Amino acid sequence: MAAANDLRLGINIDHVATVRNARGGDYPDPVRAAKLAEDSGADGITAHLREDRRHISDADIDGLMEALRVPLNFEMAATEEMQQIALRHKPHAVCIVPEKREEKTTEGGLEVAREENRLAHFIAPLRDVGCRVSIFIAADAKQIEAAHRIGAQVIELHTGAYCDAHAEGWLAERDRELQSLREMSAYAHSLGLEVHAGHGLTYDSVAPVAAFPEVKELNIGHFIVGEAIFRGLQPAIAEMRRLMDDARGDGLRSAG
Ligand code: PXP
Repeated sequence: MAAANDLRLGINIDHVATVRNARGGDYPDPVRAAKLAEDSGADGITAHLREDRRHISDADIDGLMEALRVPLNFEMAATEEMQQIALRHKPHAVCIVPEKREEKTTEGGLEVAREENRLAHFIAPLRDVGCRVSIFIAADAKQIEAAHRIGAQVIELHTGAYCDAHAEGWLAERDRELQSLREMSAYAHSLGLEVHAGHGLTYDSVAPVAAFPEVKELNIGHFIVGEAIFRGLQPAIAEMRRLMDDARGDGLRSAG
């Protein structure tokens, strides 16, 4: 069911590919999971084509572009190879993320301020072909201002530090991280940027972030794919949607 509010849920299907790649075959198929997510109320699908192709493959991106009705958010590092792939496919959105080979997951936000010139030139052709350009950054005014200056239309705030503090029960740090996310969502919005958020969100941690009125999209992957083992993908997504709607103050409307 479509949500009654304007908060979109993007489902990241990278870790369906992680399970597939554990055996090197073609099962389970991330494109099939993406179609099921779409049928289960996902407003968009996110996939990160990493330089080392550890989960999503080039063929997966071909398949997603062909099969999806909802927008694809193509996550990529700011490399020439990825730029060429994005220019060929012209997905609805590209999200520029930092990437380190040795990391298990995207550990921090992009250092936009340090690479402003290069990134401005990097994203210009992507914008020219009609992709909405999003930059994955920490909740930091300096990075937000730099993202705005280089011409990004969207920022995605990294919620990982908040989620880690939440999971560990470090309450003071959790509240500090949440406060920064809250303030920086409002600040980015005041500059005219569309605000997204994601990384590490779970049923337990999603509500406070979903409640920020400036946040228009949450991108959630690992937890949903994990939860799908226990409840199935459709119920796992439906429960996340319910929690987001409740946090937005739309619980009654979306339930009815
Ligand atoms: N948003 C961005 C930009 C990401 O890099 C990731 C992880 O690939 C996510 C959201 C989703 O994070 P998680 O899988 O922890 O929910």
